[in-house]
Amino acid sequence: MCGIVGYTGKSSALNPVIDGLRRLEYRGYDSAGIALPTQIGKPLFIEKRAGKLINLEEALKNTPETKSGIGHTRWATHGGPTDANAHPHLDNEGKLALIHNGIIENYIELRTELEKRGHKFKSETDTESVVHLLSDARKSHNGDLAAAMRDICKQLRGSFTLLALHSDNPTIIVGARRNSPLVVGVGDGENFLASDVSAFISHTKVALELGQDQIVEISPQGVVVTDLTGKVMTPKQYEISWDASAAERGGYPHFMLKEIYEQPKAIADTLIGRLAGLDVKLKFKKFNKIVIVACGTAYNAGLVGKYAIEKWSGIAVDVELASEYRYRQPSIDKKTLVIPISQSGETMDTLMAMRYAKDKGATIFSVCNTNGSTIPRESDAVLYTHAGPEIAVASTKAFATQLIAMYLIGLEIGKQLKVVKKELVEEIIQELSELPAKVEQVLETVEPLRELTRTLKDSQSILFLGRHVGYPTALEGALKLKELAYMHAEGFAGGELKHGPIALIDVGTPVVAIMPPENSILAEKMASNIQEVKARGAVVIAISEFEFKSADHLIRIPQVHEFLQPVLSVVPLQVIAYEMAIARGNDVDQPRNLAKSVTVE
Ligand code: F6R
Repeated sequence: MCGIVGYTGKSSALNPVIDGLRRLEYRGYDSAGIALPTQIGKPLFIEKRAGKLINLEEALKNTPETKSGIGHTRWATHGGPTDANAHPHLDNEGKLALIHNGIIENYIELRTELEKRGHKFKSETDTESVVHLLSDARKSHNGDLAAAMRDICKQLRGSFTLLALHSDNPTIIVGARRNSPLVVGVGDGENFLASDVSAFISHTKVALELGQDQIVEISPQGVVVTDLTGKVMTPKQYEISWDASAAERGGYPHFMLKEIYEQPKAIADTLIGRLAGLDVKLKFKKFNKIVIVACGTAYNAGLVGKYAIEKWSGIAVDVELASEYRYRQPSIDKKTLVIPISQSGETMDTLMAMRYAKDKGATIFSVCNTNGSTIPRESDAVLYTHAGPEIAVASTKAFATQLIAMYLIGLEIGKQLKVVKKELVEEIIQELSELPAKVEQVLETVEPLRELTRTLKDSQSILFLGRHVGYPTALEGALKLKELAYMHAEGFAGGELKHGPIALIDVGTPVVAIMPPENSILAEKMASNIQEVKARGAVVIAISEFEFKSADHLIRIPQVHEFLQPVLSVVPLQVIAYEMAIARGNDVDQPRNLAKSVTVE
């Protein structure tokens, strides 16, 4: 939530800052703003606008040339999406600007105290308390902004990435992080700070990882990282492996469509070098329970994972909504293996659930798409998915690769514990290796589905039905539709319908049914469920490997091992959600009220 960028160097700052914000807009798009130091010791140039980045860009007609600057794109938490609440926030003199991602939990007490000291507040945000606090601290540290930042971080509660700039030392930008992402981009005579590397990837591929409670000061000459006591730290440096073009739309009208079509490659990349086994040092024998913790789409991937991992490893698997997990004080001990799944690696709910489990002695084996992010950094072992940068807020290719990770983990544990038959392992490996081509095949046949979707655009509600691994797939189809089409959608297990949800069916209600493989007992059961909804007037769209006659519309997918079917059956569901968003005039890549990386609880 909230994208943050800072630049100091030899070029005009406006371009790298705005370009960085454009790439970070997926993190929040309620408002955007920049601060540029025009003259030493004078008030900063500030522009900020409610709404998307384009509103800010349009307002930036006569912007001064400066060699440093900070910019912010916001996902609102405290205070609505107005110009006044947009970041940067300023001190009383307008010379110190601050941007923030996260939540300051003690902002009310800070604000009360600061107002007593004469500070004037102009917004309803938690962030504004921090800039006033920093302003006072800077004065007591004789203008040393980094020292002031160290000082105030000890007084702040909550999660934050902070960037600050003062016009007295315009080439210096100071950053801080606690439970919220911040990376350094190291350039030649120029340096960057940002929420993630996509913001500066077109300028440098060298990045530094910052640890918890670290303060960073960048200038064109260098980067200095310290802990909160002022001790100088040596951050880990790494090379960014993808290039800027991976984060461009590449001719597609939306990132989401591009990412849907990138799934065959994302799956193939995630499988490379892993079909023969995973490179993990964990001894699975010691675990008697596996708990998958995740949110949203990643949680749905975990639900599919439960079917495969439990079956192939013989170990009981629970899947928990990360936001609920720690608050119910679950039973966890050294024999618990916790698998957090996260595309971003920064989701606060997942991070907190994982930390809770770690504190109780669990081993953490995370599945993550973002190199160097907090979740993998704090894990005992990591399986990186190689989906590449996922920019659209609605997750598609990351989900596909999370499914692959689940299968690989299930097989790995089963093999290590010698509980899965060699023939089955060989069969699944063969099936996994064929998946990219099969997804490609599905993508080649979705055009009629796009037309069909447009005819359903005025539906009140769309229901999704599945059984076995088709059930979490149905949940994922409903989640995608809700977030993109803003319409009522729910996923149900086919057998659950008669226990209540069937009352939702009315004449004309669209029902998307994911058919289990032909000749399976579940295919028969699902066929009965379909008859039940049809008898009540539903219009059934079936996604099926075989010629299923009872549906009003049939979307064929290739045959595949039953556990792997979600990788194929979710693709038409993604296409339905995408097309529905367009048909209803919604913003596909940036649906309302959402953000890509949810770094608040
Ligand atoms: C839905 C979606 C979200 C994320 C969830 C977890 O399309 O993208 O539900 O899956 O916020 O995010 P990560 O995987 O980054 O932890």
